[in-house]
Amino acid sequence: MDDVVERVLITKAELDRQVEELGSRISRDYEGEELVIIGVLKGGFIFLADLARKISIPVDLDFISVSSYGDSSKSSGVVKIIKDVDINISGKHVLIVEDIIDTGLTLNHLVELLKTRGPLSVEICAALDKPSRRKAEVQVKYKGIEIPDEFVIGYGLDYAGKYRNIPEVCILKKEIYQK
Ligand code: XMP
Ligand code: MG
Repeated sequence: MDDVVERVLITKAELDRQVEELGSRISRDYEGEELVIIGVLKGGFIFLADLARKISIPVDLDFISVSSYGDSSKSSGVVKIIKDVDINISGKHVLIVEDIIDTGLTLNHLVELLKTRGPLSVEICAALDKPSRRKAEVQVKYKGIEIPDEFVIGYGLDYAGKYRNIPEVCILKKEIYQK
């Protein structure tokens, strides 16, 4: 996939180290509690698969699929639910697992939505963080690796639906999305 990759930004080894650390923190923090982990599809699926296996306490797992309304290049923050969670989260701790936090608009909206369902708490875990693009205040309790303002693919992240299966986080060649 050298034709689309500018360079590797985060290696698999760095990702593994980060996931291991987040997994131990989550296991410690929620010990003895009822935790529902909600993976955000599609981007969050690889990170969640890795993270879940580094969590040593029993958890419920579910998925939600959301899409932004309107122009996909400008996140409006208003999200439409494509697939909702099946689990009743009332009276439980919820941890949302996302691939990346960019403007923060999507997660902001998702947190507010889930909070209306009576959970004990709602926290966020994101594999990557692009703080330079933030538009909404979001508390990300479990933050992964900070990245510069580059369009990245791999480790669950796509460009036009493809390249989610690249094991590392890579910078997409500008000529691919600027043509
Ligand atoms: P917010 O609302 O935080 O949305 O802007 C985050 C979502 O935007 C997508 N996103 C990316 N996807 N490479 C991608 O493949 C990127 O560099 C990138 N930055 C943001 C992603 O779907 C994320 O869930
Ligand atoms: Mg996403």
